[in-house]
Amino acid sequence: MPNVRSAYGDSVRFYGCEDPRELVSRFGSPLYVYNESILRSRLRDLTGLSDHPGFRVNYSSKANTNPAILRVVREEGCIADAMSPAELRFALMAGFEPENILYVCNNVSREEMEFALSKGVLISVDSLSQAERFAQIAPGGRVMARFNPGIGAGHSDKVVTAGKKTKFGIDPDKADELMDILGARNVRLAGINQHIGSLFMDGTDYVRAMDVLLALAERFDGLEIIDFGGGFGIPYEKYAGAPRLDMKALGAAMDARLNEWSARTGYAGKFYVEPGRYAVAECGAVLGTVHAVKRNGPDVYAGTDIGFSVLARPMLYNAFHDIEIYRENGAPDDELVDQTVVGNICESGDILAKHRMLPRLKEDDVVALLDAGAYGYVMASDYNQRPRPAEVMIGADGKARLIRRRETFEDLCATLDA
Ligand code: LLP
Repeated sequence: MPNVRSAYGDSVRFYGCEDPRELVSRFGSPLYVYNESILRSRLRDLTGLSDHPGFRVNYSSKANTNPAILRVVREEGCIADAMSPAELRFALMAGFEPENILYVCNNVSREEMEFALSKGVLISVDSLSQAERFAQIAPGGRVMARFNPGIGAGHSDKVVTAGKKTKFGIDPDKADELMDILGARNVRLAGINQHIGSLFMDGTDYVRAMDVLLALAERFDGLEIIDFGGGFGIPYEKYAGAPRLDMKALGAAMDARLNEWSARTGYAGKFYVEPGRYAVAECGAVLGTVHAVKRNGPDVYAGTDIGFSVLARPMLYNAFHDIEIYRENGAPDDELVDQTVVGNICESGDILAKHRMLPRLKEDDVVALLDAGAYGYVMASDYNQRPRPAEVMIGADGKARLIRRRETFEDLCATLDA
């Protein structure tokens, strides 16, 4: 069936045997849709980055924690990171063994550390203060430490997590102090990790930061894990032909380093990368419905039910998500019109796409915001008391199955004590 704008989705058979309009009538609007085959193929790009026997893809589950997604991640041979008790529990629920989960936490309570330890997972601490806390709780134990390599990257200042201006990581100059704190209670440094930030499209800084971490690793004996972090970007501007991150070139640079460094140092431990977005962004889209179209002064607004409570990234980071438009027997429309696509939340910042050139939107059009599989549902909220949407997965058979139902009013009431 012709759509107004669906060239990208059609080219990757995003909806399998399903029709997006029919999915919305069956499961409601808005709706998160994931495609399992795309998920698997992105995971394989990542696991193919290096042939080094110690190389592992440590999927950063903060990007998407739905257990149906996590199970596919596990089936593809990846391990997982978690940064909160619930993320840890979701990883366990999806069948990850505790030794295949890394707890990369930030500023956590004593109780939370004890909880993670009780589940048998390795913890990474990212300050001397948290190292001290760990040593008190688990003398004689094993811990990892997150360092700040001094090199940051990211699509917004809000997600640059290394360099001078960030709360994350331990300054490598404090490595001796760290070892004193751990040594005083016989805690062994089992690994070191870093994360320079989220979304790079050129691997130069990532590889530079790898070199920094490898140089630092030479100062410690007995490391089992060296984790270089995530940040691998995806091309959000698909209709403008944005290029992909060159995973082949990046993989070759990584592989060469890992092999050379382990041969030279005799290291027999593991090397992790820790991607979230690259694994799951492109396998997800959020579908919604246009309910109103109007002109306010010079601007044309297309009003949808995808508020920032459903997809927060555009509002939070000015992030770009491509838009597809599905209309029954809608002839492909070459005429592009300047439109601002907005949601249904009571704030003027509730904008999905500002002054975007798109085929003219109409009431009852179904729209998709592409590349919403990472930091989409996990960042959704109940603001304005709008229950969160459902999630469906298009399986290998091309058919959709519900992997999370839509929230109800009763869900919103479930925590009340009144
Ligand atoms: N490791 C650590 C310690 C992290 O903090 C993160 C992301 C990752 C790995 C995975 O990064 P990725 O490969 O997904 O770039 N909400 C923002 C992104 C926040 C990323 C936070 N940390 C967004 O929607 O762009």
